[in-house]
Amino acid sequence: DLGPYRHFMQKEIHEQPRALADTLEGALNSQLNLGDLWGAQAEAIFKDVNSVLFLASGTSHYATLVGRQWLESIAGIPAQAELGHEYRYRDSIPNPRQLIVTLSQSGETLDTFEALKRAKELGHGYTLSICNVAESAIPRASALRFLTRAGPEIGVASTKAFTTQLVALYLLAISLAKAQGKLDADTQATHLEALRQLPGSVQHALNLEPQIQSWAARFAGKEHALFLGRGLHYPIALEGALKLKEISYIHAEAYPAGELKHGPLALVDSNMPVVVIAPNDRLLEKVAANMQEVHARGGELYVFADADSHFSASAGIHVMRLPRHTGLLSPVVHVIPVQLLAYHAALVKGTDVDRPRNLAKAVTVE
Ligand code: M6R
Repeated sequence: DLGPYRHFMQKEIHEQPRALADTLEGALNSQLNLGDLWGAQAEAIFKDVNSVLFLASGTSHYATLVGRQWLESIAGIPAQAELGHEYRYRDSIPNPRQLIVTLSQSGETLDTFEALKRAKELGHGYTLSICNVAESAIPRASALRFLTRAGPEIGVASTKAFTTQLVALYLLAISLAKAQGKLDADTQATHLEALRQLPGSVQHALNLEPQIQSWAARFAGKEHALFLGRGLHYPIALEGALKLKEISYIHAEAYPAGELKHGPLALVDSNMPVVVIAPNDRLLEKVAANMQEVHARGGELYVFADADSHFSASAGIHVMRLPRHTGLLSPVVHVIPVQLLAYHAALVKGTDVDRPRNLAKAVTVE
């Protein structure tokens, strides 16, 4: 049932505050009880872990690109993220104390499942799966499990599964920090409070939909677009570009903004819309300098900034303000407008939003 929405994708985008609150409920109610959240052996495994390797595909992989940064910032544990189909065919050095974390909305993605099997063959015993479907192959094959509570996701373009995966990864970072004695009670309370506030911030971002709709109309006539971000928000740029490609068939590329001058700047002219994820974090001044590089070449900038940033619009620079900056959790809020931008661009183009050409919801083939 679509209710007031035109497509499942739009409905699922709007379900995110609820999906996030449901996914966080157990952690918030139990004050981060590790056994309840991850499984009986979690405490012992988390104590021993010396590094984390994330394995996933597509949008789930982008979630791990954020997660690996949270792991290092919050828990001080080295973390890498790799695509399952790359990992399974390369020589790698097994580390028995490494936690293998697979992320999959469907739990059936063959590339990710085979990567998990390969990790186990190599002798990895510490396996954890974050999944949205309880009775599926990947969690069944993992020692520890966390179920995101996004509810069924019908649209091929993943939206609410992504943001619920992000909060699961944040919980993983604070859980590992806790197990390893790196999280004092005050810091834990601060993290949990930030998570409690998050669905409200996401709701504020959703309220920008009418403004985003007017931006999207301009994208629909373009053949190419660039998405820029830095740090925690480079994966959000990747996700914005993937969403636009998937459902509107506009060619979009994402770059870490610092990389522009190493090549992609050559693409920029007045026909190239450039979306910039520009939250009020410690990289803001760097991102602003990258925006100048685009502006000077005649590129049209579409900037998602925070309410408390000093950006202002001018000729060729469009600025939209999200809620107040939400610190480390900011990627969860900043992905909302790029989901909406892709959705509305596709609507203008008249594509089949929920079932884009050539794609399947769960990719169970190689
Ligand atoms: O079910 P999974 O999370 O394992 O799926 C992985 C990718 O196939 C999936 O995220 C895909 O990239 C989406 N269609 C993106 O919107």
